[in-house]
Amino acid sequence: MKKLIIANWKMYYGPIKAGAWIRAFRRERLPKELDIAVAAPFVSLAAVRSSLGRASTPAIAAQNVFWAREGAFTGEVSPDMLLEFDTTYCLVGHSERRTHLGETDKMVAKKAKALQAAGISPVICVGETAAERKRGDATKVVRGQVREAMEGLKVDGRAPFVIAYEPIWSIGTGQPCSARQAKEMHDVIHEVIFKKFKVKCGEVRVIYGGSVEPRNISEYLNTVGIDGALVGGASLDPRSFGLLCRSAAPA
Ligand code: 13P
Repeated sequence: MKKLIIANWKMYYGPIKAGAWIRAFRRERLPKELDIAVAAPFVSLAAVRSSLGRASTPAIAAQNVFWAREGAFTGEVSPDMLLEFDTTYCLVGHSERRTHLGETDKMVAKKAKALQAAGISPVICVGETAAERKRGDATKVVRGQVREAMEGLKVDGRAPFVIAYEPIWSIGTGQPCSARQAKEMHDVIHEVIFKKFKVKCGEVRVIYGGSVEPRNISEYLNTVGIDGALVGGASLDPRSFGLLCRSAAPA
């Protein structure tokens, strides 16, 4: 399976800037051996879709979803609505949502299940805090998050789920988790996936996020068990994200 790089714009770029970003990024030379996606705010999905025209790279990702198909859920957006923009991936359980919006493992599991049922690949974000790592609980915390999130999931060729390991202490801090530290956790996550689905490492992608930049991306992607990256800050400039994608391509 190709490695996957997802730009997570977080709460940046409304429709006008989103369209400009896509047009600039499309001028970049992009490696064919990667899957590339951009996770845009809901309000910018239409602009991303129309700026892409007939191009399929970057694939479209959303940053959140609600689990019901429709109904009295003011302010929420359903998987079917995301499909109207040809959305391929959707982040769920980003640590910023868990921290600021009270998202729980149970909610994450419901969202991931609803996405897969609609044919959108859930990208389930997991990761420990600095305090949890210090206490020696990192592995336990992440195992628990992955197990709960996978509760209603299938290994589904149409909408394969992805796990994004994002140690919270490394997000937006410029303090990257080393490729060796990341690999240790990716191996644990692959093992949890194997226990449930009996699929080999490589069949379900586990990607890394946290202070990924053009200068360190290849270290992660050349590590066995790290199947891609989720990129925040370094994805905001389309040219430097283009450089990051080129630096990520296998040597
Ligand atoms: P940074 O790349 O800015 O550390 O953010 C990581 C992240 O949260 C991606 O989802």
